Amino acid sequence: MKPLSTRIQNIKPSGIRKYFDVKRDDLISLGVGTIDFDPFPAVQDAAIQAIEENFTGYTTNSGILPLREAIIGKLAKENSLSYSVEDILVTCGSSEAIAAVTQVVLDPGDEAIMFGPAYSAFGPLVELCNATPIEIPTRGEDNWNPDVSAVEAAITPRTKLLFMNSPGNPTGAALSREVTEALSELAIKYDLWVVSDELYERIMFDGKQIISPASLPGMHERTFTVNGFSKGFGMTGWRVGYVASPKGLTSALVKAQQFSSICAPAISQRAALAALTSSSEHFKAMLDELTHRRQFIVNQINQMPYVHCQPQDGTFYTFVDAREFLREKGEAMRSYLRQHTDGPLSDSEVEQLTDFVLIRGNVALTAGSAFGPCGEGWFRVSGASNMNVLQKGLTRVREALEAL
Ligand SMILES: Cc1ncc(COP(=O)(O)O)c(C=O)c1O
Repeated sequence: MKPLSTRIQNIKPSGIRKYFDVKRDDLISLGVGTIDFDPFPAVQDAAIQAIEENFTGYTTNSGILPLREAIIGKLAKENSLSYSVEDILVTCGSSEAIAAVTQVVLDPGDEAIMFGPAYSAFGPLVELCNATPIEIPTRGEDNWNPDVSAVEAAITPRTKLLFMNSPGNPTGAALSREVTEALSELAIKYDLWVVSDELYERIMFDGKQIISPASLPGMHERTFTVNGFSKGFGMTGWRVGYVASPKGLTSALVKAQQFSSICAPAISQRAALAALTSSSEHFKAMLDELTHRRQFIVNQINQMPYVHCQPQDGTFYTFVDAREFLREKGEAMRSYLRQHTDGPLSDSEVEQLTDFVLIRGNVALTAGSAFGPCGEGWFRVSGASNMNVLQKGLTRVREALEAL
């Protein structure tokens, strides 16, 4: 057989999904990215009605008009962004939107800047364009906001795209207004395109809000604002997202989308429309519950030996600093792994830790190294599951860590 493309061979599988398909009796996953709230009743009703009406064929590439109109209304009301329907492309999840933007913007050899630890798809999507991801490290001490002078120093004549993701996966940190403005000034100064991934925007705590970079002066014409229904509406499997583009660029994105997915699922588009127009009561209840879970996770983790975390600005992820644990208990942990596993140990120390917690505690966590080298030493706990699961899972994690 002839070999597969070098491009695909060079892509590493997603670290987030490492334990996704692991089958172990009584395994508790604290790695999940789907919140456990049922879709709002209006969403389910809209999907059922779509089926009953046989609204099940292809739609226009860019998505049904009422949904695009509702998206425009949402962006105007919540993000101070002004678009017309031609600027909106509905996609199969925000994943397809980000993939389409990278394909439209990047040529082989171009560079795209992102802040590490970064959502695990950004780098590979850039690499699939034969372009180069450039990761600027950020630090927990700075609430994972980048040092803007380091970003400027990394810009070269090949830099074409800048990723912003606020609040971000995996850290849950939001970019401050000051940093968002400074990054926007850089984008303008060096004529960069920007992807603003705002997928978790509705899950912000303590009354905080994110700033959409496209709302800042000079940014509308260079920013692709990406959002979707997976996280804020708990609709991961429905596969609906969207991208709002600078004037005249949607047709280029459609070229990337129409030869792969053709359109987002018709039934899900109707459901997404219902989600956007549903009552704010549902969101309030969801956010109250996620706030409660966030506090619970932080309290529990900070009682465990040598691991530390802070309440995050948004998302349902808590990012945990395990560096002290690895210093204090790393050898004991590796010795346990050598006794209880056959294969070689992972090169990443924090992945050794998540392997250890899986084997000793039967709990799946996500290693920070799945989000690039800057995530080494940290792990991610997802608060997407209900309190019973969290309670049981975190008790097991504590018992596992205390056992060394
Ligand atoms: C930051 C971020 N962007 C995009 C995605 C992709 O989500 P979807 O394609 O379901 O909209 C995810 C999924 O976890 C994410 O965390």
